[in-house]
Amino acid sequence: MKDVIVITGAGQGLGECIAKALIANGFCVAITDVNKEKAVEAATRVSSSTDIAAGFKLDVTQKADFEQALIDIEAHFGQVQGLVNNAALTLTTPVMDVTAEEFDKVLSVNLRGTLFGCQVFGAYFADKNYGRIVNMTSLAGQNGGAAAGVHYASSKGGIITMTKVFASNLAAKGVTVNAVAPGPMDLPIVHELVSPERLAHLLENVIPVKALGSPDFIGSMVSQLVDRNAFGVTGATWDANGGLSMR
Ligand SMILES: NC(=O)c1ccc[n+]([C@@H]2O[C@H](COP(=O)([O-])OP(=O)(O)OC[C@H]3O[C@@H](n4cnc5c(N)ncnc54)[C@H](O)[C@@H]3O)[C@@H](O)[C@H]2O)c1
Repeated sequence: MKDVIVITGAGQGLGECIAKALIANGFCVAITDVNKEKAVEAATRVSSSTDIAAGFKLDVTQKADFEQALIDIEAHFGQVQGLVNNAALTLTTPVMDVTAEEFDKVLSVNLRGTLFGCQVFGAYFADKNYGRIVNMTSLAGQNGGAAAGVHYASSKGGIITMTKVFASNLAAKGVTVNAVAPGPMDLPIVHELVSPERLAHLLENVIPVKALGSPDFIGSMVSQLVDRNAFGVTGATWDANGGLSMR
């Protein structure tokens, strides 16, 4: 029986790419999104079989949505082994213009959404003595980023710390919790947020490998972290930033 991995915010973008990679690596995926239609459509794009990929509604700002999605996904697939906390709002508002409302909105999706995911699925996995959690963070959460909003970067920094707290808490229960920190990826949102002129400048002068990151490779990294053999990796943040930050 294939392990089942739940992905939040996977109706488009990186989440959908992660779903594709997980399927290619022998997993089943529950594609969830705040927009149920988007989740169901993405599931249809990544697999023609609902035994392999199925779409569900899950608004990560609502803890009850995680609880309900877990019930629905377990009923559909019969089991659940992993969670990828991927949903995020990526805003680039200038630092002095961020309002309290906008700050709270971004933190409630990116950071508090990850908290609820780790709590609800972490408790379920601990009870089963097995589970894999991967939290999507970002280079912006490590060095502040070049274009990211202060709320976005702060939420992603918080996710790295939160990953360590849950990893310590769940390690003895067979549950690993790790983070993946990409730099700018070759994805629609990057082309929407960065002008063609600025992107050309970044590629020529700023990003050492002179290329945007591969979403498929991020999918491979996530596949490795949710593998049964990955029991010895927990509390880690794996970087994939084209050499923009080295440590
Ligand atoms: N794109 C990049 O270059 C890049 C770089 C570093 C990290 N990341 C991280 O990868 C992840 C995915 O980013 P992306 O570029 O695919 O973003 P995206 O904006 O293309 O997709 C985000 C998805 O999250 C969903 N979403 C929004 N609010 C939600 C909520 N309340 N509940 C559930 N779903 C919600 C949206 O509907 C959308 O489908 C994010 O965590 C992001 O921080 C992306």
